[in-house]
Amino acid sequence: MNNKVLVTGGTGYIGSHTVVELLEKDFEVYIIDNLSNSRIEVLDGIYAITGKQSEFEKFDLCDQDRLRTFFKNNKDIGSIIHFAAYKAVGESVEKPLKYYRNNLLSLMNLLDGMEEFHIPNLVFSSSCTVYGQAENLPVTEKTPIKPAESPYGNTKQISEEIIQDTVYSSKFIKSVSLRYFNPIGAHPSALIGELPMGVPDNLVPYITQTGIGIRDFLRVFGNDYNTPDGSAIRDYLHVVDLAKAHVMAIERLFEKKSTPSYEVFNLGTGKGVSVFEMIKSFERVSGRKLNLKVLDRRPGDIEKIWADTRHANNELGWKTESSLDEAVKTAWDWEKHYRKSNL
Ligand code: UD1
Repeated sequence: MNNKVLVTGGTGYIGSHTVVELLEKDFEVYIIDNLSNSRIEVLDGIYAITGKQSEFEKFDLCDQDRLRTFFKNNKDIGSIIHFAAYKAVGESVEKPLKYYRNNLLSLMNLLDGMEEFHIPNLVFSSSCTVYGQAENLPVTEKTPIKPAESPYGNTKQISEEIIQDTVYSSKFIKSVSLRYFNPIGAHPSALIGELPMGVPDNLVPYITQTGIGIRDFLRVFGNDYNTPDGSAIRDYLHVVDLAKAHVMAIERLFEKKSTPSYEVFNLGTGKGVSVFEMIKSFERVSGRKLNLKVLDRRPGDIEKIWADTRHANNELGWKTESSLDEAVKTAWDWEKHYRKSNL
């Protein structure tokens, strides 16, 4: 087994946690990241946790010449985990071309590179956003894909199609798309975690920033949904559990001997948690009370979604290990650690 893995977006939130899990399983890791939404210091955190170095190059995957040079210089890479992409739903509505250009061009450049340099394995970072508001819950991998609610969501759908078509036309490329539900939390060491630039869009970083006093109050987007407590429901999973699934996906690709091979897995806990339940979890683990303001629903938000995880459990052999409170505690520990060392 060729144990050299290229992780694009490896200094980002899910990418950095995945690099840690790969290094701990003795994979050799190459990271390409343009640092557009992450910091170089993340590499220090990865090293502090694992005691191992990964190779890092800073450039944009849209630069195909630069990417070809990278592959020419590193001919022994066997697998790619592709995280690098823009992911802000709201911004994608304002600047759709920025999202289509970046997210699709970078993927196509990688696939060209895989063909040219004979790299067989691709794990793609997809999202449950492809299901939209599903009629039946929980969602399985066979739940129909809905027209995307945002250009960001559309880039995930189109990317999956591009990969599938490429796999079916190729003699050797195999791929797994992982559809994440809502990743939260941080590494238990608190040495790496989620580092939103500016005001966070996502719920958990907004909660921890409110808890530590950076935000005056938490905005609860809607309490009139058709859910038991009126707030929206998501399936929140610990980022370390999610990271481990990527290692398992790579191992699975190595086991697949025949092509074409393209698979999709939902990655979640299988349990829906409301915004108010998430707030209670934070208050339990932190011992702090949050100021709340209930606002209107956020445009584009769905009411509820959670995963049917049987396919990932049975085929990939993966399931989440952390409870909600454990995952939220790591987010809180990270927030405290990060603020202490950056004030
Ligand atoms: C969204 C995308 C997901 C994407 C992710 C990346 C959809 C349906 N989901 O997840 O595909 O991968 O962003 O960033 O497009 N909330 C508050 N107050 C806040 C923030 C959020 O009440 O300050 C609520 C939201 O209304 C939602 C829940 O918390 O009900 C989770 O929101 P968020 O963490 O932003 O994730 P999604 O919108 O589910």
